[in-house]
Amino acid sequence: MGIRFDGEKRIFHLQTPNSSYVIRLIRGVPAHLYWGRKIRGVALERLLRTVERPSFSPQPFPREDRTLSFDTLPQEYPGYGTGDFRHPAYQVQLADGTTAVELSYDSHRIVRGKPPLEGLPATYVEADDEAETLELVLVNRYAGLKAVLSYTVFERHDAIARSVRFVNESDKDMRLLRAFSASVDLPDSRYDLLHLSGAWARERHIERRRLAPGMQGIESRRGASGHQHNPFLALLAPGADEDHGDVYAFNLVYSGSFAAQAEVEQFGTTRVTIGLNPFDFSWLLEPGASFQTPEAILVYSPEGLGGMSRTFHRLYRTRLCRGVHRDRPRPVLLNNWEATYFNFDETKLLQLAEAARSLGIELFVLDDGWFGKRDSDTSSLGDWKVDERKLPGGLRRLGERLNEMGLQFGLWVEPEMVSPDSDLYRKHPDWCLHVPGRRRTEARNQLVLDFSREDVCDAVADMICDVLRSAPIRYVKWDMNRNMTEIGSAALPPERQRETAHRYMLGLYRVLERITREFPDVLFESCSGGGGRFDPGMLYYMPQTWTSDNTDAVSRLKIQYGTSLVYPVSSMGAHVSAVPNHQVGRVTPLDMRAHVAMSGNFGYELDATALSEEEKARVREHIRLYKEIRPLVQFGDFYRLLSPFEGNETAWMFVSEDRTEAAVFYFRVLAEANGPLRRVRLKGLDPEANYAVVPAAEGADGGTEAVWGGDQLMYAGLPIELRQGDFGSRLWRLRRV
Ligand code: DGJ
Repeated sequence: MGIRFDGEKRIFHLQTPNSSYVIRLIRGVPAHLYWGRKIRGVALERLLRTVERPSFSPQPFPREDRTLSFDTLPQEYPGYGTGDFRHPAYQVQLADGTTAVELSYDSHRIVRGKPPLEGLPATYVEADDEAETLELVLVNRYAGLKAVLSYTVFERHDAIARSVRFVNESDKDMRLLRAFSASVDLPDSRYDLLHLSGAWARERHIERRRLAPGMQGIESRRGASGHQHNPFLALLAPGADEDHGDVYAFNLVYSGSFAAQAEVEQFGTTRVTIGLNPFDFSWLLEPGASFQTPEAILVYSPEGLGGMSRTFHRLYRTRLCRGVHRDRPRPVLLNNWEATYFNFDETKLLQLAEAARSLGIELFVLDDGWFGKRDSDTSSLGDWKVDERKLPGGLRRLGERLNEMGLQFGLWVEPEMVSPDSDLYRKHPDWCLHVPGRRRTEARNQLVLDFSREDVCDAVADMICDVLRSAPIRYVKWDMNRNMTEIGSAALPPERQRETAHRYMLGLYRVLERITREFPDVLFESCSGGGGRFDPGMLYYMPQTWTSDNTDAVSRLKIQYGTSLVYPVSSMGAHVSAVPNHQVGRVTPLDMRAHVAMSGNFGYELDATALSEEEKARVREHIRLYKEIRPLVQFGDFYRLLSPFEGNETAWMFVSEDRTEAAVFYFRVLAEANGPLRRVRLKGLDPEANYAVVPAAEGADGGTEAVWGGDQLMYAGLPIELRQGDFGSRLWRLRRV
């Protein structure tokens, strides 16, 4: 691991445990030479070839070198206006209105560790010897613009963290029109583009297609990362799949509007950029001011998507998520939302809680409807005072009663929003995002509070802190249920209106920093109508996210499988809900619902008082089992075995770091008449070791134990035996013997 600089050849060689990333200064411009499997670094200078192209690729130094054109040079952070016609990583408008700005090398430093990103979520280190950071300082002296490109390589992770800080060193204003976090010019175009797309209740489905000439990519213009696209994109070399081949992945540590693009240009190379969406964005940089982009995480895997995912998982689980809950087993919870919706009182909640406790549940979460006069979604957001009609003794009494039962108390809030029908809105109608004189477009009967304003952020944070102090609250579900419209702020001058959406995110991050610091013992789970803001930015503050409002076990196979491409299983909330399922109307067996949900942060979201005795016994058994495998699920390595996007079957498994324990989950959606006798090949085991395999949760007895070779399980496979019927599922536990 480390960063080497060859001063003579002007080459930076960045190394992670298994990958290399090489930059060379060509006439002061940082050129991208290589990213891939680790190489030793002999003759790196020979990696870059330039030839003279026809006159449509301009030559900045025609008398010295006619082969050099910015239009063809693979670059690290390309600009616009001086001969590169591909899409730029940044664009700056100077005081004279012009935009032709070029940046070139000024200096660099290599530091141990990883400096934090001011005001933004980012991966971190706990000791300086865990990482090394290159800061490459680029300048344009005419414009007085400085950009510091930052690259961190980790000692234990095959990942590179990139970000950029712009500084206006001139005495005039300038305007940033785009400021991507990372750009890489890959030397080929024969890649597949893979990303995660969907909609509310159908989040993060895997999409894969061949790259074609021109621009392609994904973005959000919603002021949130969104259900529709995740800020993640990967390029797969020909033949790359789950277990093999080169994968180049990009993920943005940000929760607002983003863009991730791949441009295949005329000579068969591909430029990938990821960062803040330049659409409807600009940022006024006054003399002396600076602008920090969010962080992008770049992962190269020679072991296909599986290797990529395990790198993201380990990095995010250990060096993105923070706080005491990062390494603690997460509680099994019961959430009252699908059990009662808005229709509850203290008696009903305590009945639910008692039923939950008797099943082995550890945390009771009170969802929406406990404050103001919120009997439906038409009012009260912003009025964070308990509704004494429903909870006469307030949150404290409820919390204490739950604690007496032996349950922890968790609470839902939606702090970023305001209902037009609320005291807060009547008092402060200018506190929401809006454009004077225009309609204030509602969604779910609510408006977005203007978190670009410090006073609004402080007031909201005060209210939420008061709530958290008012009762023994140990868990918070932080929800956010609409996207931004009329993105304007009453507190910003006209020339800064297009900063509002990004300032909102900075305000939100400030609030989250404050609240999570003030309540270090509280476990926070973020949510946005399910998975509408499932991104690394939120995971920095809150180590888990409500994966989707869709709790149907079959739908969840795809949602959780897709999510697992990037995000660790310990970040995914997953609940067993009632049947027929409230989102899709499907009836699936309790076992399947439990098996899907225990492949995440396990919980229930149903009326536990309405379960039959038989169901209760089953649920008790599921919870007991989950508690046993919980460390494996939350901290083990995750391997995908069969994809729900490719057929009727899904399988995945968890393996402990020392490979002594594993849990294998298998799902078959529809029964097949006279079907094949299947074996599923396992992964991640020690081929030299033997494993005792116990089918679990098939019956309360847990099944009989048999001993298998790790090699046999991986190379020949585990035979799948399943009862007749649709929606079959199975769990096996493996223990090294
Ligand atoms: C959307 C969330 O995703 C649900 O789980 C629930 O909390 C509702 N909001 C409550 O309004």
